[in-house]
Amino acid sequence: MSQTVLITGATGGIGLEFVKIFASKGASLLLIARNELKLRSMCEKLRARGLEADYVACDLSDPDAPAKIAAHAKREGLAVDILINNAGFGDYGPFAEADLRKQLDMIDLNVRALTEMTGLFLPGMIARGSGRILNVGSIASFEPGPMMSVYYATKAYVLSFSEAIARELKGTGVTVTCLCPGPTNTGFTAGAGMQKRFADIFRLTGPASVAAYGYKALMRGQAVAIHGLPSKIGAFGVRFLPREAVRNLVYLLQK
Ligand SMILES: NC(=O)c1ccc[n+]([C@@H]2O[C@H](COP(=O)([O-])OP(=O)(O)OC[C@H]3O[C@@H](n4cnc5c(N)ncnc54)[C@H](OP(=O)(O)O)[C@@H]3O)[C@@H](O)[C@H]2O)c1
Repeated sequence: MSQTVLITGATGGIGLEFVKIFASKGASLLLIARNELKLRSMCEKLRARGLEADYVACDLSDPDAPAKIAAHAKREGLAVDILINNAGFGDYGPFAEADLRKQLDMIDLNVRALTEMTGLFLPGMIARGSGRILNVGSIASFEPGPMMSVYYATKAYVLSFSEAIARELKGTGVTVTCLCPGPTNTGFTAGAGMQKRFADIFRLTGPASVAAYGYKALMRGQAVAIHGLPSKIGAFGVRFLPREAVRNLVYLLQK
């Protein structure tokens, strides 16, 4: 693969598995996360394998970050062929007791940065007549999430936005895929303050199988890719339940 792939949230969990997949295909990589030490060491290892690898260390919830990344890509002459908008986090607990700053940072990362990254790299893809974008949604994209209200709402946005632009872009050579994982064993659960509760209720999937599934969906240009049978059943099932039943069910599962 002679393509340039930009991956956000590249240092851990699902994003790191995407890095491994694209590295195994010989892609050139532009990696984004906050932890510069990890990014530098990853790039050194990738270059030692003969791959082109570069990084931008930044906090994507910072409003300047996407423009900084786009400017870096331009300066380095990198045309991004594949954009993986993966970075995201959640927060567990009732909204009334939540750290409001953290909720707003979450919206900035999960929604605003994902939208701006898409907006910044899409025109180049359209002009070249080819490109692929993968936005990481969630099974949470399909229902309201009492006890994680803002997170679920951000992921509903990701699914809605991705599906809408996937349709708009038909015929341009650019595809958009929304990958919707179920509960996955990554740093996400600890970051959201829900490690124990999560692992008690759900059988967590490994991030490698989520990324492998997402990669196949991305290369097929599939608009929505829900990982795992339980999540597929869940996403399908909520369509037939009254909304009150859905929010009660999610509340019971999460409280
Ligand atoms: N795990 C699950 O159960 C699950 C289920 C459904 C959907 N998802 C979604 O999957 C995506 C990946 O999550 P994960 O489970 O792989 O989580 P993870 O293990 O916590 O990894 C998150 C990655 O994003 C980076 N990151 C976090 N905040 C960032 C910020 N403000 N700016 C830049 N980079 C940032 C982290 O690196 P640094 O710390 O170095 O910045 C790390 O590389 C997220 O969008 C999440 O919502 C996860």
